Amino acid sequence: MKVLRDPADLSIARDDARRVGITVGLVPTMGYLHEGHNSLLKAAREQCDRVVMSLFVNPTQFRPGEDLGSYPRDEQRDLAIAREAGVDLVYAPEPEKIYPAGFATEVTVTGLTEVLCGSSDSRGPEHFSGVATIVAKLFNAVDPDFAYFGQKDAQQATVIKRMAEDLDFRTRVVVLPTVRDRDGLAMSSRNAYLSEGARERAAAIWKALLETESVYETAGLEAGLEAGRNELERAGITPEYFEARFPGTLDPVEAGGDEAILVAVAAEIDGTRLIDNILIEPEKGKVQTT
Ligand code: PAJ
Repeated sequence: MKVLRDPADLSIARDDARRVGITVGLVPTMGYLHEGHNSLLKAAREQCDRVVMSLFVNPTQFRPGEDLGSYPRDEQRDLAIAREAGVDLVYAPEPEKIYPAGFATEVTVTGLTEVLCGSSDSRGPEHFSGVATIVAKLFNAVDPDFAYFGQKDAQQATVIKRMAEDLDFRTRVVVLPTVRDRDGLAMSSRNAYLSEGARERAAAIWKALLETESVYETAGLEAGLEAGRNELERAGITPEYFEARFPGTLDPVEAGGDEAILVAVAAEIDGTRLIDNILIEPEKGKVQTT
């Protein structure tokens, strides 16, 4: 497994792959790898001739006062996991290589980035400009046939799909299901911050989403959302948002019906911000009206 730190070296590998006509899969990460990342690496390994993983804690997607400085890092462990997963090349650049002096470009996807985590009382749309810009740079540097993202960050995946289509990237964006711990908590590098007590309470997030799904099926959307919010309240969690949106457009859902809906939640537990969501498919979510 190669580890490259310079975009110039990466372009040699990229041109090489293009010349011999093999397929390249990219898994972008900020490291501190867990089973969620691993599932993306496995899919890439199964579907592509060459697997590239990027490992870069992207400063521009953190707000001032967020956890950039304390974001968990363990490169040696990450490299061992990547090697085990059959990654061919790890791209782990220093921030100065990605954002050299004079860097002045930003990729902004409008609309989709102004709701949920992008609303002004959440992380704000600038967070997603940070994500879209780094992912655009990675797509250009690696030129992958496929790039793999997790449904756990549903809004991020929607924004990246939009960007790839709008800017004519040839890369196909693949979104894979959320990997969970045994009690349902979505795997996240930030789970490392949780104390034992907070970790137990955090399981209420997935319980709340399941509760919403089951009540939605029988009693409709409003009752479903209320049941989910109540479940969180019982665990002493006040969500930043707990909302139903259409997965492609992120437009709000009024009542639900024949289309899939995304119920997304963000909540801070003892200072750690967690997000999760559930995709409720139409056949499951169909409300009996007769
Ligand atoms: P990071 O949080 O490291 O996540 C890297 C990828 O792993 C993302 O596509 C994310 O959705 C996916 N992932 C995280 N937890 C998951 C889980 N429990 N199940 C399945 N997939 C999961 O997301 C980022 O980094 C960054 O924003 C990045 C895209 C790398 C741009 O900087």
